[in-house]
Amino acid sequence: MCRAGLIGSALTATAVVVAVLVFMGVASAQEEVPRACTDCHEDTTRAWEGGVFQDLLAGSSHSALDCTDCHESISMDELNMASPKPHGGAVPPVACGECHEDEADAYIKHGRLEVGTDADIPTCSSCHGAHHILPSTDRRSSVHPNNLCTTCKACHTDMNLIKDHNVLRDEPIKLYKGSVHGRRPENSSCVAATCANCHSESGPQGQASAHRILSATDPNSTVSRPHLPNTCGVCHRSEWEDYEAGIHGQLAKRGETDAPVCTDCHG
Ligand code: HEC
Ligand code: HEC
Ligand code: HEC
Ligand code: HEC
Ligand code: HEC
Ligand code: HEC
Ligand code: HEC
Ligand code: HEC
Repeated sequence: MCRAGLIGSALTATAVVVAVLVFMGVASAQEEVPRACTDCHEDTTRAWEGGVFQDLLAGSSHSALDCTDCHESISMDELNMASPKPHGGAVPPVACGECHEDEADAYIKHGRLEVGTDADIPTCSSCHGAHHILPSTDRRSSVHPNNLCTTCKACHTDMNLIKDHNVLRDEPIKLYKGSVHGRRPENSSCVAATCANCHSESGPQGQASAHRILSATDPNSTVSRPHLPNTCGVCHRSEWEDYEAGIHGQLAKRGETDAPVCTDCHG
């Protein structure tokens, strides 16, 4: 505005035309200066997410968010345009828990380790994705029952990770896919049971959640021997009742560790 005022008062008609042309030149040069994150970041580099940031975000539960709602540390006003590292250093990870407090409070452990103590432990986005996050009820969601196996698979088929962490079972994916639970029963469009149906612990609010997956060696785990019959019994009510009434259930209840539980007979 200031500059326009000076131009108007000081120059002749011809000079104004020249000045306007120069001004337009400046304006178009300015347009090349990035004004939005997407001027520099068009496509995600995360191959499995694939696509244009803005389109992914627009089709997600977070369509109302701006880039900087999640990438809080980055500001367009503080970029160093001359540097190959315009953000001036490492960009800190997104803190999903600032908006999703209940989930962050529930998600404190995976296996035997506390969240955040080891780089191999899943972050929120290992399971949910980053720019195309959808509720678990949406078929396209990475945590929809039909897709959850693929999501867990990313780590639970990685032999280095399995060895490093001494994970008790090295091929849960193969076992699951070959099991009655990995297929879709007749008349159903969803798998019989997902990883989370058996491995999810009840959270503080009582509901089962994949945010509490513990090791089978943890007495609180849903797949530890004392809790296993109840876990299977959620879906197999009548077999659970028969089992509880029968001798094996009675022995198991008394704490006999060699009394068979469901998986000793069913694999
Ligand atoms: C001038 C171009 C430019 C603009 C504008 C820009 N970035 Fe970047 N950004 C880069 C470059 C180059 C890198 C890689 C080097 C680095 O880490 O600084 C990067 C890195 C990142 C990373 C880390 C990538 C990784 O793999 O760790 C994130 C996240 C990011 N930018 C988000 C944003 C957001 C959000 C905005 C808007 C507020 C933005 N950027 C604006 C050029 C830009
Ligand atoms: C819902 C939160 C959220 C929003 C909104 C969001 N991002 Fe991200 N973004 C993430 C997460 C999570 C990662 C993975 C790295 C991490 O955990 O920090 C990521 C990674 C990135 C990366 C580096 C890896 C890659 O995919 O190339 C860039 C660049 C990036 N985001 C740019 C953007 C831009 C541009 C926008 C706006 C159009 C945006 N983000 C909006 C959550 C978000
Ligand atoms: C700036 C706040 C904010 C941040 C940061 C954020 N979210 Fe969200 N998230 C929301 C809002 C708002 C909604 C939509 C309202 C709702 O349904 O809860 C939402 C929805 C969701 C949903 C779908 C919930 C549903 O029931 O529809 C999931 C899953 C989710 N977010 C996970 C994440 C993850 C994972 C991250 C980190 C990568 C993240 N969010 C970062 C605010 C945020
Ligand atoms: C980002 C990688 C990653 C993802 C994704 C992941 N896990 Fe894990 N998981 C691990 C690591 C690492 C451990 C070992 C932690 C430890 O040392 O106790 C582990 C441990 C476990 C354990 C306990 C194993 C044991 O022997 O103690 C179970 C059960 C488990 N994960 C199930 C799942 C399920 C189900 C999913 C999907 C909903 C999943 N995981 C997704 C990395 C991952
Ligand atoms: C090991 C995989 C895994 C990790 C890690 C994980 N989630 Fe989830 N999340 C799930 C699954 C599966 C569901 C579906 C319901 C359930 O089992 O709890 C879910 C449900 C949700 C929901 C409810 C909406 C919906 O889609 O049903 C929100 C919000 C959410 N997660 C946010 C987070 C946040 C924030 C973090 C990190 C603090 C996180 N999640 C970490 C697997 C994960
Ligand atoms: C029908 C229930 C059920 C389903 C579905 C299921 N599991 Fe398991 N899983 C178990 C039981 C029970 C054990 C522990 C006892 C055993 O090894 O027989 C176990 C053991 C494991 C272990 C190692 C032992 C530990 O410490 O917990 C991992 C890792 C694992 N499962 C991951 C997965 C993944 C990933 C999926 C989905 C692809 C999955 N499971 C689906 C019931 C199930
Ligand atoms: C989330 C619900 C759910 C959980 C939890 C669950 N199941 Fe199942 N199970 C099913 C469904 C649904 C079927 C039927 C699959 C079909 O028809 O293809 C099934 C089938 C079976 C069958 C075969 C029955 C037949 O008719 O052939 C056995 C055996 C079985 N489950 C045992 C178990 C055991 C043992 C556990 C615990 C480790 C368990 N289930 C946990 C839902 C579940
Ligand atoms: C001592 C071994 C044993 C134990 C322990 C056991 N079962 Fe079974 N179960 C069997 C045998 C044998 C059959 C097949 C014969 C029958 O139908 O009675 C069977 C049948 C089943 C079936 C299929 C019924 C059908 O219609 O074909 C399901 C589902 C099942 N059991 C679930 C469970 C669950 C859940 C538990 C734990 C609460 C459990 N079983 C504990 C041996 C066992």
